[in-house]
Order: sequence, then C-alpha cells, then structure tokens
Amino acid sequence: MDLNPTELTSLAQIACTVAIEAGRLVVDERPEGLGVARTKSTDTDVVTVMDQRSEDLLRRRLGEMRPDDGLLGEEGAARDSGSGVTWVVDPIDGTVNYLYELPGYAVSVAACVGDVSTPGRWQPVAAAVFNPLSEELFHAHAGGGAFLRSGGREHRLSVSTRTRLARSLVSTGFGYDPQVRAAQGQLLAGLLPLIRDVRRAGSAAIDLCHVAAGRLDIYYESGLNPWDLAGGQLVVTEAGGVVTGRDGAPAGKDLVVAGPAGLVHDLHALITR
Ligand code: IPD
Repeated sequence: MDLNPTELTSLAQIACTVAIEAGRLVVDERPEGLGVARTKSTDTDVVTVMDQRSEDLLRRRLGEMRPDDGLLGEEGAARDSGSGVTWVVDPIDGTVNYLYELPGYAVSVAACVGDVSTPGRWQPVAAAVFNPLSEELFHAHAGGGAFLRSGGREHRLSVSTRTRLARSLVSTGFGYDPQVRAAQGQLLAGLLPLIRDVRRAGSAAIDLCHVAAGRLDIYYESGLNPWDLAGGQLVVTEAGGVVTGRDGAPAGKDLVVAGPAGLVHDLHALITR
C-alpha cells in the first residue's frame, strides 16, 4: 500500500495527538493506591486499570478520526482494517515502571500497513511515542525523518556514530516467563565483558527512541510483541538506524536488534553465535 507524504504526515499528526492525550490521562487520572487489575502471561505480567483506560481512549479517538482503519492493542483491542492501515498501540509501555511510580513509561502509537497478525508481514509508516513524565514526544513518518519534541522545541534525531561494541552502551529487556529470563540472563552475562555497560530501563518503546536519539548506542531483546516494537522501530529507522531480526529476518518476537548498522551487525553476530 502506497501512502503519499501528505497522508503520512497526517497519520503522524494523529499518532502524536492521541499518544499525548493517552499519556496525560495515565498521569492525571492515576488513582490513589493503584494496584494490579489482572495478570496475563505470568503472575508478573500485569495490567492496571489505567492500561485499560488508556487503550479505551486510543480506541475511541482513533475510531473517531480514522473509522476505516484497523486496531491492534496490547490489552486486547482489535478491529479489522478496511483502509489498509492498522494502528498498533501500547497504552502503557513500561507498565511495571508505572505500577511502581518509576519514571520510564510511554504511550506508543503506530500506523502500520500489511498484516499485523503475521510476524514480518507488516511495517510501521507513522508513529509517536510519548513519555508523559518527561513530556518528550518522539515521532516519525516513513521517509520524513525522526524528531523529538520537548520543551516547545523540535529537533531531528540521529543514531549514535559509535562503531565499536566495546565502547557501546547497550540496552535490553527481559520477558515475563522465568525460563525465558534465565536464557536472557545467560546471554547477557556473556555480553557484559564485551561492551561498555548495559541498561535495563523497562520500556522497549523508550529504549528504541533513546537509540534513535543516540542516548543509547544499541538495543536488543527477544520476545517483543508488535505493540512494544512498532512505534520505536520507525523512530529508529527514520533516525538512520537499522532494526533487524535474526539472520536478516524482520525484527519480531524471535529477536530485535536496533542501532547503527555497524553495531547491529556486530551485536547480531555475538547474539546468534
Ligand atoms: C514490556 C516493556 C519491557 C520489555 C518487555 C515488554 P509492557 O512491555 O517494554 O521493557 O522488556 O519485553 O513486555 O509489558 O510494559 O507493555
């Protein structure tokens, strides 16, 4: 599906509008003594009432503005697309940070084309990731570059220029399944002596945007869902980076490595060795 620059700009503006609205909601209307409303894949994979309310807002607002588009949301929102565009949304990426009142969560909204239910068959074309505590808005559309809007200013993003993994600050995350985590821990233990240091911030969307801004050199993780990945992925590629999966496959549940091309090549080789 081909979208022209005017359509892409309009999708990015909509992504920004609804990501900001949902982000303000989760901060302004957070109830006293917020608890866990339910759990998903494991006992530590939590959903709060505000994840649900944020997703409800995103569903309602996108439905008003783009009634023919599809929707795929982390908390279960699903609508088939009649237009060829599907919005992939994470109402709070970094839910555990949000639960603990740690400042590292964001709303991620991405307009995607292709089949979002099939790994590797979709791609983001316009996106916004909004961190409501720092009030940083990362946004991008295909072919238009990636930008950070913050404190009334807007500047273009580019990934790190670093070329050596040994001098690179690497970010990663862990899944909720204990067995998967054990394997992720082993992999990380092998990488630690080969890199500058590691960060685990707790939001894949923010990690990806920080790679786009050069605040992190590179990021990798396995187990990500489309809603964790879609918005940040576009911000990285539009900032001049590469986002790949294993052995040239599209990034997805199996593996995501994101950063400048040279570092991605070297880290991918280490991870898959
Ligand atoms: C999680 C965060 C985390 C990553 C996990 C994700 P959620 O998303 O992005 O950083 O390591 O893999 O599931 O559950 O907070 O939306």
